[in-house]
Amino acid sequence: MTSAPGVVVLVSGRGSNLQALLDAHQRGELPVRFRAVISNRPGAPALERAAAAGIATETVDHRGFEDQGAFDRALMTAIDRHAPDLIVLAGFMRILGDGFIAHYRDRLLNIHPSLLPEFRGLHTHRRAIEAGVREHGATVHFVTAELDGGPAVLQARVPVHPEDDAERLAERVRAREHRIYPLAVRWFAEGRLRFDGTTVFFDGEPLEQPLVDPPESRDALVT
Ligand code: GAR
Repeated sequence: MTSAPGVVVLVSGRGSNLQALLDAHQRGELPVRFRAVISNRPGAPALERAAAAGIATETVDHRGFEDQGAFDRALMTAIDRHAPDLIVLAGFMRILGDGFIAHYRDRLLNIHPSLLPEFRGLHTHRRAIEAGVREHGATVHFVTAELDGGPAVLQARVPVHPEDDAERLAERVRAREHRIYPLAVRWFAEGRLRFDGTTVFFDGEPLEQPLVDPPESRDALVT
């Protein structure tokens, strides 16, 4: 990647992580070109955020396709028109098929609201409270065919307080998501973060454990 890498963002809903990426870009902290924001849900608020930032938006409504394969193919066609170097899943709430994932094998990032491998899947905050864990968080990971099972790159940890309900905990986690996702995308854009389909490399070294974003010392990770 010689110039700023092209990024397509996939969304389904509110788009607060998309907004964090757009804000980081606006501040000059994210050396990428946003090529398009694509939603599987018509009218997703995330699309308005993209449009307000002057980014092309598209919708590929999953309900219009008879099976997973047909949806995947339509989504790939929409994405590939923009020839992105990186695809960022930002609250994209559809399962993607193996063919799709293989097609973007080394350039598909997701953020998941738990400390993976804990609490894969949905309703992570409620499940964390029910499980009585003291610590919860979020994980940026490369996507592989195993649902929420791809290698973790960067995690943020938050405490779980006794008085938390799922929404309060979600808010605490989301605030940290908004820090770690732009950071991981920036690393990818700078060539510091790479995935070969099997191993994640950070600054050229295999990453054995996810990096952990310390709550109060952003500078420790932004070098
Ligand atoms: C975020 O908390 C993200 O981690 C989660 O959805 C939320 C989207 O919020 N993603 C998943 O659960 C993926 N399985 P946003 O639309 O405001 O960014």
